[in-house]
Amino acid sequence: MKVYFIGAGPGDVDLITVKGRDILSRCRVVIFAGSLVSPRHLDFAPEDAETHDSSSLSLDDIRKILMSARERGLDVARLHTGDPSLYGAIREQIEMCEELGIDWEIVPGVSSAFAAAARLGVEYTVPGGTQTLLFTRLEGRTPVPPEESLALLAAHHSSIAIFLSIHDIDKVTGQLLESLPPSTPVVVAARVTWPDESFIRGTLSDIAEKVRSAGITKTALILVGDALESRRRRSCLYHEEFKHGYR
Ligand SMILES: C[S@@+](CC[C@H](N)C(=O)[O-])C[C@H]1O[C@@H](n2cnc3c(N)ncnc32)[C@H](O)[C@@H]1O
Repeated sequence: MKVYFIGAGPGDVDLITVKGRDILSRCRVVIFAGSLVSPRHLDFAPEDAETHDSSSLSLDDIRKILMSARERGLDVARLHTGDPSLYGAIREQIEMCEELGIDWEIVPGVSSAFAAAARLGVEYTVPGGTQTLLFTRLEGRTPVPPEESLALLAAHHSSIAIFLSIHDIDKVTGQLLESLPPSTPVVVAARVTWPDESFIRGTLSDIAEKVRSAGITKTALILVGDALESRRRRSCLYHEEFKHGYR
């Protein structure tokens, strides 16, 4: 018996990996994060699979499901949104598996940050510009170390993908403006790859107002940086005098 933590992707049911879907199709117990993972993934589980929406489950409830699956020798697919390594809270579940002596494996997925870049047609790393992308969030119930404040991170002038913070867009822009000019491009990407996805483009000076008017309060990324508007710059990769092993 094994527990598979599978990145189910940002929303579009086809943005799970082939490996993830193959494993899902064999697991007779499925736990999925119903608030962000499409229930359509369950169509790929065995017909008689036992399914649980984790949005209403405590860690103790999950422990009981794992123990019951272990007693019956059933593999478990634990579907997480995007890639499980980003704000997935998998650490405590892995520790629980280890306490219970249950084997586990992580199958990576497509993060919403990468799905957003694809839908926008942008590259977060820009030839002649930033070579860095930061993933971060505002603190909520989960604290953020003071040395990772948005103002300090923004001082790098890199691309930034901010998760779990759209509800406090004013705080986000306020902190970023301590280090970046008001004209810095910002895109708010909401429910990327879901049928109701939307994108709001602006700058640090006007994005908060635009987000408020659009009424977006959850399931959105705040993407920041000049890379969002640098589509015209060319990399050296395809320059005729530049022979490169990464092509
Ligand atoms: C608990 S975190 C999980 C992130 C996930 N592991 C990932 O790799 O995308 C949830 C946050 O991710 C972002 N998010 C997840 N899915 C999204 C989507 N389809 N569109 C925009 N943002 C999304 C939002 O910031 C949301 O508040």
